[in-house]
Amino acid sequence: MSNLMQQKWNDTHLDPKFRSLYPHDSVVRFVFRHFVRDADKHNKTVLDIGCGSGRHLKLVAENGIQAAGCDYASVGVQEAGKILEGLTLKADLTVCDFTQLPYADQVFDGALAWGVLYYGNKTRMQQGISELHRVLKTTGVALLLLKSCEDLRYGLGREIEKNTFFMEDNQTNEQGMTLCFLDENELRDLFKDFSVVTMNKNNYYANNLSQLHSDWIIELTK
Ligand SMILES: C[S@@+](CC[C@H](N)C(=O)[O-])C[C@H]1O[C@@H](n2cnc3c(N)ncnc32)[C@H](O)[C@@H]1O
Repeated sequence: MSNLMQQKWNDTHLDPKFRSLYPHDSVVRFVFRHFVRDADKHNKTVLDIGCGSGRHLKLVAENGIQAAGCDYASVGVQEAGKILEGLTLKADLTVCDFTQLPYADQVFDGALAWGVLYYGNKTRMQQGISELHRVLKTTGVALLLLKSCEDLRYGLGREIEKNTFFMEDNQTNEQGMTLCFLDENELRDLFKDFSVVTMNKNNYYANNLSQLHSDWIIELTK
């Protein structure tokens, strides 16, 4: 685990502007499609890997589903705890690295890793994906957001491995972090142990068409 990256995330979580309470609409659709209408939802648990300050834990918990969240930034986890407590909601919260999840095998009905597993190099991403596979039940479903090579961040820093950059630019507040981007072949290879349900590329512009964001949105079953 890079202490520098962890410190940067702790600093980021101290800034209130990074504490959104609004869930991403793809995550809302995923949670509703798989869990909200399930009569047994109170006995289902969804893990949010890299939960940050907990906007998706809030979504899960307020819909009557058991929520578990982990993040290696303790500031984010504390913030998530405070937000949930203020809303009289509960989640099982843990500080850990996504490469070593402190959970038993096959315990989660659902998992999210939304904008998380690309922080680091490809080996770490692979470890995170195999941990996700390990903790998910055989009937489990997962939703991930990763970054494609078309994203504006690609090439902004020093390429330290193929498609992996140490960010030297701060236009996305990620200076000093390492980010791993994926092309389609790499994406298919990384998830070969799962039955992939859908893989979508979501391209959208920000800042008057000057910044192209390019996300892989992947829904998986085991
Ligand atoms: C872009 S934020 C996304 C937060 C949250 N998933 C959301 O959608 O609001 C990335 C999160 O990943 C966490 N993170 C980065 N690397 C991590 C690692 N190796 N293990 C656990 N969490 C990590 C960061 O601390 C941060 O909270």
